Amino acid sequence: MSAPAPPMGLLAELTHRCPLQCPYCSNPLELERAAGELETADWLRVLGEAADLGVLQVHFSGGEPTARRDLPELVARAAERQLYSNLITSGVLLDERLLGALVEAGLDHVQLSFQDAETESAERIGGMAGAQAKKFAAAALVRRAGLPLTLNFVIHRRNVERLPAMIALGAEFAAERIEIAHVQYYGWGLVNRAALLPSRAQLDAATATVDAARLAHKGRMVIDYVVPDYHAERPKACMGGWGRRFINVTPTGKALPCHAAETLSGLDFPSVRTSSLARIWRDSPAFERYRGTGWMAEPCRSCERREIDWGGCRCQALALAGDAGKTDPACALSPDHAVMQAAIAEAAANPSMEFVYRRIGASATERA
Ligand code: SF4
Ligand code: FES
Repeated sequence: MSAPAPPMGLLAELTHRCPLQCPYCSNPLELERAAGELETADWLRVLGEAADLGVLQVHFSGGEPTARRDLPELVARAAERQLYSNLITSGVLLDERLLGALVEAGLDHVQLSFQDAETESAERIGGMAGAQAKKFAAAALVRRAGLPLTLNFVIHRRNVERLPAMIALGAEFAAERIEIAHVQYYGWGLVNRAALLPSRAQLDAATATVDAARLAHKGRMVIDYVVPDYHAERPKACMGGWGRRFINVTPTGKALPCHAAETLSGLDFPSVRTSSLARIWRDSPAFERYRGTGWMAEPCRSCERREIDWGGCRCQALALAGDAGKTDPACALSPDHAVMQAAIAEAAANPSMEFVYRRIGASATERA
């Protein structure tokens, strides 16, 4: 078996701590506490190992990565090793001093997330009063610092009507790019699916808005758009394929092929505390398990798209079809595709008006 090509990106999930509590957070349901987080020295070593392995980009994320005091030091190491660095942040802890330190350390790009364009709704979704003004201030600081800026909007049934205002906000801040991503229904998103899943009519209106905005802002602002699997006919290549493009390191140092991989209980994910990133990438059975096409059953095995979408998402296959080795139910060729239609009908018939907020230490009973 030949060695896999190196990953393009390292997703460095520095911490699960975050002042916001978005009900679609991509972090696992069991969040890590600060006491279990990797030390600065560990992250510095991991960044060096990533560069040695051939990684090109590091995405500093969380939780809220600016909650780590050592962030400028980590960015400086990334710059020293010529890794392109992207800060994925809610912006609520970003002040002039911290941004100055990050710029000085060599930060290349900021991706700033918004919960909505309208303040009251945004703060209800994020579960933090006063957050929106802090985000506006953070966007202005990033502009003043001259860093490239992407605004990220996660959209769903409760905010999709304000998509035009979100795009206008991107233009107001002269963002180079805005990313409009429908909620992905894993983890917290799946718990909150009945409150968040949009109707077909909402999705179609959003897609038309994006198409028109792309024309209107052509040459000035790029608009990325991620549609929800539930209304799709074919799945997305989740993470660009398992163990192909990204390696994700959790706050405690577990190396994963995707942020939700720990839901796949039969796999043993190695730690960067005890193995090098290169060894994990090349030799870990967990990374090998769904890499490429050898693991596939029908209908993926003989499908002409098998090296395009890599069978979709393993975590979604487990969550909705009960087996991570099955075709992603987002695919219309999957025998389990009907579960997607059933979820859409259920969300339309019994929409929830309440969010289950993401927070550290929430017990299963509290979440139910
Ligand atoms: Fe992709 Fe498998 Fe569906 Fe083909 S059958 S489109 S490879 S998920
Ligand atoms: Fe794990 Fe898609 S989120 S493979």
